[in-house]
Amino acid sequence: MQIARVLATVVLLFMTAAHAADERQFVPLPDRMRDHMLHNMRDHLLAIQTITRQLAAGQYDAAADTAEARLGMTSLQRHDAAHMASYMPRGMQAAGTAMHQAASRFAITARNAEVEGGLARAFGALSRVMAACVACHSAYRIH
Ligand code: HEC
Repeated sequence: MQIARVLATVVLLFMTAAHAADERQFVPLPDRMRDHMLHNMRDHLLAIQTITRQLAAGQYDAAADTAEARLGMTSLQRHDAAHMASYMPRGMQAAGTAMHQAASRFAITARNAEVEGGLARAFGALSRVMAACVACHSAYRIH
């Protein structure tokens, strides 16, 4: 009886561990670089939140500006991207590039959101930006 209970516990623990297994690739970064990247990430999330608020308020040009400056191709300089990219595996670089491109495409779509159906298209484009966030997060970790 006692043994059965112990066995059951072991099996349960094993299943929990298997379920929690982290399949993301670990990317080692120097401490300062990791802090810098996480800082950028928190700003990415803030930018997404700002964009949804601006879209909801019908401020399409402002939403486009936020996306381009904070997430789009224009933001690469600000984020010191070229230097950071040299520490990343190829797939991670590609995910980053995909996000910046999707954000710049969103900016163009948002500027045209005044036309009929434009808001729906803008949200579709924003969803593609967020798909790039999700793709990288599900594949890589830095701590
Ligand atoms: C090129 C890859 C990549 C892209 C693209 C990316 N992230 Fe990240 N992000 C990461 C990694 C790696 C971490 C750290 C995860 C870990 O180590 O567990 C992270 C962490 C974060 C964090 C947590 C920050 C903290 O202080 O812990 C937030 C918030 C975040 N990302 C938001 C976003 C948003 C929003 C987007 C899209 C607009 C985005 N990220 C796009 C790779 C990426």
